This record gives sequence, structure tokens and C-alpha cells, in this order.
Amino acid sequence: KSIGTGYASGKIILMGEHSVVYGEPAIAFPFAGTGIQATIKVNKLESWIESSFFHGPLSAAPNTMRNVTVLLWYLVKHFKIPEPFYLKIESSIPAERGMGSSAAVAVAITRAVFDWMEEPATQENVLHFVNQAEAVAHGNPSGIDATTISGTEPILYQKGIGFQPFQLNMDAFLVVADTGVKGQTRKAVKDIAKLMELRPYETNQQMRTLGQLTNQAQQAVLQNKPRVLGDCMNQAQGLLRLLGASNRNLDHLIETALEHHALGAKLTGGGRGGCMIALAENETSGRQLQKTLLDAGARDTWIEGLGVYAHV
Ligand code: MEV
Repeated sequence: KSIGTGYASGKIILMGEHSVVYGEPAIAFPFAGTGIQATIKVNKLESWIESSFFHGPLSAAPNTMRNVTVLLWYLVKHFKIPEPFYLKIESSIPAERGMGSSAAVAVAITRAVFDWMEEPATQENVLHFVNQAEAVAHGNPSGIDATTISGTEPILYQKGIGFQPFQLNMDAFLVVADTGVKGQTRKAVKDIAKLMELRPYETNQQMRTLGQLTNQAQQAVLQNKPRVLGDCMNQAQGLLRLLGASNRNLDHLIETALEHHALGAKLTGGGRGGCMIALAENETSGRQLQKTLLDAGARDTWIEGLGVYAHV
């Protein structure tokens, strides 16, 4: 019998990945093109995790699951959860594709434990645990993933300052395409930190420009100017590429999208693989773009209407 259930969706960063680590603003939204669920059950034998990436006792969980084990440690301690328990993770969010699968698992687990303990899983409560665990497991994340995923609306996010809801409402469609190649957020973040040490002036300048592009993108959305947003996305991609966050697979899909009437295209999330996003003028061109990107080698694609009335 299941005694606690928690769900979370993934996320898409529209603008501002990487520069968000350096205090610049970013725009992101929860992305439910896929669903995720974490279920907690009691088991009399031993604390046990069951997931597609690991089956076994909590004590034997691999290092790659540190975000989960650290989080569970915090939750067990806080709620004085009697061990053993049984944790089942079922996620259909592609892992390591810049969609925030790891933050989604963490948010869903926390919601499941709160559900089990019959405590209200407010966004604040959930973030308290997830951010602590992510900081230990991931070093220095900006917090944008957990914040976006623990909420329900698009947000404008700034590290250390917080977030505000943002109406991502314009006449356009966003196509998301998975390169099928695992992204390397951690490595990309680390390498950019090295660039920051080696060439602080230039790198800081690039971060600031990325921040300005996010601000321009925000204005473009408010004024319903998809072409301007597309242009911001292209410029951001140019800088992310200079920073080493792109790779051949991403570049290929991005170029293909631009050759096929996308208004703009860029990587999303940590990069070096993972997903790209492309802005389409309308649903028909978006659907066409999905097909073109699949033909060009994308593993999977999704489409999201950006207008409140345009959701598909
Ligand atoms: C990852 O989704 C976004 C990055 O900016 C890293 C972070 O913000 O922690 C690449």
C-alpha cells in the first residue's frame, strides 16, 4: 500500500542558463511535456530504493544518486522517519537532458515524504530541503531548477534574490528537441568557472550580456514580439557557444531549426548535449519543425504553446 505520493514535472530554461549562476536573471517554466512520480512505501526489511537507475538498499546507492541520498538523509532526520522504508522512483523525464530531471526527482520525493507525514508541501517547505540537498550534491547550483519545478508557473529568477511569476504569454510556440546525448551540466558549470578565473574580464562581460539578453527577451514577451525574442535566443546561443556550453549535436539541431523557419533557437539547461529549444511562429510551423528535427536526428521532440490560450 502506497503511503506517500509526490509528483513533479521537468523544467525548461527559456533564457539565462549559466549566467544565472553568476547572478544574472533567467526565465524558466515548469515543463509537463512529460510526467514524473515518486512513491514512498514502507518495507519491513531494509530501506530500499527502486528506480530505473538503481535497485537496492539505500546504503548501497551509487555516488550518482547523491542528490537523492543526501535529500533522504535530511528528510529522515527532520521527520524522524522510522527506517526502513521503501522508495520507488518512476520518472519519464529524460535524464541529463537539461530538463531538470534530478531536481524533479528531488521535488517529487520531498512532496511524497510530506504527503506521507501529512504535512503541507508548500513551495517554501519543499525548497528548503531540496536546495540544501542540491547544494551538497551539486556544489554550487543557482537554484533555478528546484525553484521552477517546485512551482506551477513560468518565473523570472535571480540567484540570491528569488523569483517572481512571469506571464510567458505570446503568440508563438516553443519546440523542445532532445539531442539524445547526455548533457554535462556539472562539467559545463565547472569549465565556465575556470574560464571565469582565467579570463575574468571577458567572461564577466559575456555573463552580463547574457543577462541583458534575458531582460530584452522579457520585454519582447511582454510586448508580444516573437521575432525579437527569437533574436535574443540566437544571440544567447552565440555566447553560450563561446563559453563552451554547446556541442556538435546541439549546433546541428539549432542550425537545422534556423534553416527551417525557426524564429530563434538555442540550447536549454546545462548544455553539452541534452535539449535545444526553437521558437516557431505558429502551431503549424512548430509541428513541421518537430518533424524536421526528428529527421535531423533528434531523439524526441515536444511542443508548448506560449500563450495562455495557446497551450497544446
Ligand atoms: C541548469 O539547468 C542551469 C545552469 O544554469 C546551472 C544552474 O543554474 O545551477 C546551467
